[in-house]
Amino acid sequence: RKKVRIHHLRELKDRGEPWPMLTAYDMYTAALFDEAGIPVLLVGDSAANNVFGYDTSLPVTVDELLPLVRAVTRSVSRALVVADLPFGSYQLSPEQALATAVRFMKEGRAQAVKLEGGQHFAAHVEALTSAGVPVMGHIGFTPQSEHNLGGYRVQGRGEAGEQLLADAIALQEAGAFAVVMEMVPAEVAKRVTHELRIPTIGIGAGSDCDAQVLVWQDMAGLRTGKAPRFVKRYADLAGALSGAARAFADEVRRGEFPAPEHAFH
Ligand code: KIV
Ligand code: NA
Repeated sequence: RKKVRIHHLRELKDRGEPWPMLTAYDMYTAALFDEAGIPVLLVGDSAANNVFGYDTSLPVTVDELLPLVRAVTRSVSRALVVADLPFGSYQLSPEQALATAVRFMKEGRAQAVKLEGGQHFAAHVEALTSAGVPVMGHIGFTPQSEHNLGGYRVQGRGEAGEQLLADAIALQEAGAFAVVMEMVPAEVAKRVTHELRIPTIGIGAGSDCDAQVLVWQDMAGLRTGKAPRFVKRYADLAGALSGAARAFADEVRRGEFPAPEHAFH
């Protein structure tokens, strides 16, 4: 099967065909999502919350994310794999951003990296793209800045919509190949999508973005509890897995597992 390339994503935008993106952090999910035809997989720094058990994305490190990126890139044949640059691994300077991106490309075998920020990070994006590293931008609600943004809230309302558009254009001009918009009003996301040549990827940004992304544990119902408004659960993995664990435990306690066919004689 043919590998997904950046120009394919631009072609989908030009044809007006929306496409899906999911996070993936390990072998089975990467292989399953690749087989299911998800063209882009993101090894998100959301692994902080969804793999490592931190309460925000801030603590996760490059050394923690790299093995996950390596596992995902080893497990796909077609999907484009994007590695998220974690908090503190790129903000210092364009040079730091490039050094970190090179690790994700060389050691992790990622095909692209993602970083959070608009206009203020145009120089970082340019340093990467001119060195041959494809960059996905991320604007709107950017979880690495949650303390600066005053918590988990919609961005780009009112006047701020103009700044969001300016940020998106700055990223495009710096050479970004796509831009994630998180928790922005659908009308603003629609306008940005129309103004940009590069694809927009929405999460809580309405239906007019060129693509849609969700964290896979949200999408598949592995994460329980109150989900943000933008999440739709397409399965009940939490129910399925806890049911399986309980059934196994019950059978062991009742002496029903293993049955004769599970034993060697
Ligand atoms: O880390 C992540 O999962 C993300 C997506 C939600 C875009 O940045
Ligand atoms: Na992220």
